[in-house]
Amino acid sequence: MMLPFEQSAREKLGDPLVKYLLGRQGEQDAGPDGNQKALEQYRLVPRVLTGATGISMETTLLGQSFAAPLAVGAFAGDRIFHTDGILPLADACAKARLPLIVSEETVTPLLEITKVWSQSWLQLRAAGPVRRTFDLIDLAARCGVTVVVVTVLAPTHPRPGLQPGGYSVAAEIKARGWTTIGSDEPGVMALPSFPQWSCEDFASVVAHAKRSGIDVVAKGILSKSDAHRVLEAGCSAIMVSNIGLRQTDEWIRSSDALHGMGRQAGRAPLLLDGGVRRGTDVIKALCLGASMAVAVRPFVTALVAAGQSGAGEVMQAWLDEIAAVSAWMGVERPQDLDRSHLYCERDPR
Ligand SMILES: Cc1cc2nc3c(=O)[nH]c(=O)nc-3n(C[C@H](O)[C@H](O)[C@H](O)COP(=O)(O)O)c2cc1C
Repeated sequence: MMLPFEQSAREKLGDPLVKYLLGRQGEQDAGPDGNQKALEQYRLVPRVLTGATGISMETTLLGQSFAAPLAVGAFAGDRIFHTDGILPLADACAKARLPLIVSEETVTPLLEITKVWSQSWLQLRAAGPVRRTFDLIDLAARCGVTVVVVTVLAPTHPRPGLQPGGYSVAAEIKARGWTTIGSDEPGVMALPSFPQWSCEDFASVVAHAKRSGIDVVAKGILSKSDAHRVLEAGCSAIMVSNIGLRQTDEWIRSSDALHGMGRQAGRAPLLLDGGVRRGTDVIKALCLGASMAVAVRPFVTALVAAGQSGAGEVMQAWLDEIAAVSAWMGVERPQDLDRSHLYCERDPR
């Protein structure tokens, strides 16, 4: 299944940007990726004659209210994809009332983004001196951001060559003389791969954020034991993510990891990132225990092809599908869905 606007985005971007946006390690850039294939294995089990009186998708997460349990996730190098960078997407998110996660590798200044959409979140890499991360959290606080996403899985490239399509977004941004949110100089801040952060480093970042009233979401958690560790370190939510299988195709699929994690004993909200391609995938994520689903490539593709109106169109189509299918599932809120509403084609009958 092609993404909406994919053909037009491909024509506009050309190689090798298409490979950077849609490519994967060891695979062609066409067809569903491993995360999509895993989600496709699930089928919905509706309930009928439930007497439901309406459907509401209103979602409260980390002290903010959104129109639905759907977020637009982080992507680097926004201005490479659109002359106005991420701003048209921020506008679409503001109109749809959905969270937007802004990469520290974004060229558009953070304050410009939060002026367009105040419920934007900032994504940071868990690498390099924690003092640098403190400074970026302070910047987030000054811009009114109340949620920071810290990518703890594969935050740097210990060896070159594993970028999708062999394309270095950092080199491209530098060549164009652009700076990014996380860097004072042109390009993307080069961060050391070693020593890797310890859980204590992560905990100190969480504590620093909390002093400014900022919640931290740990992105890139794929095992129950790591979920436990980051929760012990004080983070407020967990994003179950394999970063779209962009660095290696061998990581466990996000939905399989979420399935194994359950609702993390109800201790913190879980977000599912990776392979979400339509409203019914959001529903599947909620059935598996997520409080919110995150999608990136469908919205970047729409941004490239048709700017704010394209992204808004895709959002609206997904929201309509979530509302209609949730109603047909017999619930009044997608949040009332659980695993009993899901059948996996891989499960033994
Ligand atoms: C072009 C592109 C750039 C990305 N840049 C970042 C980034 O800067 N930080 C990050 O945490 N994830 C980044 N990601 C990963 C996405 O946030 C997301 O985890 C991944 O694409 C899976 O979601 P999807 O299947 O909906 O695309 C990037 C993804 C793409 C496609």
